Amino acid sequence: TPTRLWGGRFAGGPAEALARLSVSVQFDWRLAPYDLAGSRAHARVLARAGLLDAEELGRMLAALDDLESACAAGDFRPTVDDEDVHTALERGLLERLGTLGGKLRAGRSRNDQVATDLRLYLRDHARGVAGRIVELADALMEQAARHIDTPAPGFTHLQPAQPIAFGHQLLAHVQALLRDLDRLRDWDARTSVSPLGAGALAGSSLPLDPTQVAKELGFEHAAANSIDAVADRDFVAEFLFVAALTGVHLSRLGEEVVLWTTPNFGWVQLDDAFATGSSIMPQKKNPDIAELARGKSGRLIGHLTGVLAMLKGLALAYDRDLQEDKEPVFDAVDTLELVLPALAGMISTMTVRVDRLAAQAPIGYTLATEVAEWLVRQGVPFREAHEITGKLVVIAAARDIGLDEVSDEDLLAVSPHLTPSVREVFSVPGALAARITPGSTGPGPVAEQLHVAADKLDRW
Ligand code: ARG
Repeated sequence: TPTRLWGGRFAGGPAEALARLSVSVQFDWRLAPYDLAGSRAHARVLARAGLLDAEELGRMLAALDDLESACAAGDFRPTVDDEDVHTALERGLLERLGTLGGKLRAGRSRNDQVATDLRLYLRDHARGVAGRIVELADALMEQAARHIDTPAPGFTHLQPAQPIAFGHQLLAHVQALLRDLDRLRDWDARTSVSPLGAGALAGSSLPLDPTQVAKELGFEHAAANSIDAVADRDFVAEFLFVAALTGVHLSRLGEEVVLWTTPNFGWVQLDDAFATGSSIMPQKKNPDIAELARGKSGRLIGHLTGVLAMLKGLALAYDRDLQEDKEPVFDAVDTLELVLPALAGMISTMTVRVDRLAAQAPIGYTLATEVAEWLVRQGVPFREAHEITGKLVVIAAARDIGLDEVSDEDLLAVSPHLTPSVREVFSVPGALAARITPGSTGPGPVAEQLHVAADKLDRW
């Protein structure tokens, strides 16, 4: 017998092509535990409304529990005839309860049901994703703690800019992840709204209690508007934005690791367990995790734009287009759950080449700004100090020597302000130590930053 939920006014079954287009159970089956939780809450509200007696409620809840165990054990599975997760689970209930199973659908539609299921699923899984973000942040923090005062070249335009502490660079990525965690928390508060009770779109003539149902399902509020309750997918789009932006952060970290592991940089070596080889070139050690983190950010961005495009033309309330919200959400969760632990493992096991970082820190005249600021401290206007230092760099670059290798005579020839005492700023550790303002790359502020970030992550 067909398991369709809408057979009454139809003469025959759906065309094969329609059934194949319409079916979603192959991907929405993962909502089953959430659908069952919603069903339990709905059974209780029906009982409170006097629409199920105590004995019926008992049997209903027992059957839902039994169905849940059967699903978990793999003994109950959707069939090709089950259009979606809701259809499959109603079949399971009918198999257990006979006609009593048909009472559960009163006052409820798949429209409020699916919106509820997806909110429950996402709130649950967003917590898991947040946990994985914390683990990656922890891995970055551990490395950063070892490199609070390890000098490294800092870049703008990917050109050598100024010396930085390598730990400071790692902590910049932690800051982005902390914002992602904040966003997930904000998102969760806004997503804490239960659509159940909205029915198809207009609420119900039955004396249901959406506020109580919301509470039982862990939602802060019941939806204020039954049309919005079934039409709204802001929580999907917003989650996908957070996922996409997190993906962008992972991609930027990935890109840096790709650079750092090239021989030209040689800043870090990946652990064998977190790198791959080549099938033809025996010498190769490739940073595939970093590349896949970078590559997979593309699909996360795609899911966001895909869902926004799907939503933009939809008249309220429910439209079947909304069924297209689920695969992007599931894939976004799966992608982050794959990428984050791999990145965390890669970061925590990588070896940082302190010698190479220190050797490269002054290359490309990264101390030029120190010279200009030294001149400012001597009373030279910055505009002029910038000019003077630029000329000094031209001379050193023409001879392919460092600033510290320019003679006293040549310094004075560039400008009478460049007395030999300027040599006190020709030092990378000196440049770092001179940075004491909050948020800057000196050892003091970096240690402080580490401390504050650790506190935030601990309290997560
Ligand atoms: N499977 C649908 C979805 O994912 C829910 C069912 C609502 N269908 C309907 N014909 N009202 O959105």
